Amino acid sequence: MEWGMKNRLQQLMGPDGKCFFMPIDHGYFQGPTSGLEKPGETIKPIISFCDALFVTRGVLRAAIPTDLGKPIILRVSGGTSMAGKDLANEILTTSVEEVIRLNASAVGISVFVGSDYEKETLGNLSRMVNECERYGIPVMAVTAVGRELDKRDARYLSLACRICAELGARVVKTYWCDKDFDKVVKGCPVPVVMAGGPKCESEKEVFEFVYDGMQKGAIGINLGRNVWQNPTPVAIAKALQAIIHKKVTVKEAVDMCNELKNAK
Ligand code: 5RP
Repeated sequence: MEWGMKNRLQQLMGPDGKCFFMPIDHGYFQGPTSGLEKPGETIKPIISFCDALFVTRGVLRAAIPTDLGKPIILRVSGGTSMAGKDLANEILTTSVEEVIRLNASAVGISVFVGSDYEKETLGNLSRMVNECERYGIPVMAVTAVGRELDKRDARYLSLACRICAELGARVVKTYWCDKDFDKVVKGCPVPVVMAGGPKCESEKEVFEFVYDGMQKGAIGINLGRNVWQNPTPVAIAKALQAIIHKKVTVKEAVDMCNELKNAK
């Protein structure tokens, strides 16, 4: 691997090769999102526990300080909305020139395997890989399902992840699943990062799936709403960081989280 590509990938992870990405890109298809009304304020108390920020160019420019001190993963696909016909009908929104100008360390792009726009979104991924590889910029593929959340089983996720890796993604972000997640990771020849999803019932539920996914070979998480929609985001962010980088158990994470909440 060339120096630039390796260096950028290392920027995104801790020295242990594990990662906690903080996504605040939700507005790109769902508009103002609860907890992200002022994205700059949302991340202030929690960003120190994370390894990178996943964001669109618009929010980056408008709300994120240039001295953030964390690498940026720029979301480069979009062009659809909750009000439109099909979330899968995405285009590339951001040029590689812009990625370089904004000094991003990586890009993130959604693909919708099995949708009416499978070929187009896989084409977007391939084009971005062709362009970004030229400059040593890693592409993270996001296996998106739009509104069809029940698609998220091991068979579908294995298919989607493997295709992303085959097309040249350096990292794949996908959903955790309770059955055979280890098979999803094993079938993907590049590192797998777990997506979050809608807010869980409890913090313990979040810690359980993150811990389980890490045991099964994921290198980390890209988890937003379960952190910044939580009334105590710092407590949950710190406990998640400890699962990812300090290998704490679910019980230890719950205890840590409760202690931090009670200390408030
Ligand atoms: C949407 C994304 C988001 O980054 C991701 O889903 C956000 O994380 P969370 O679901 O944990 O709020 O890629 O396609």
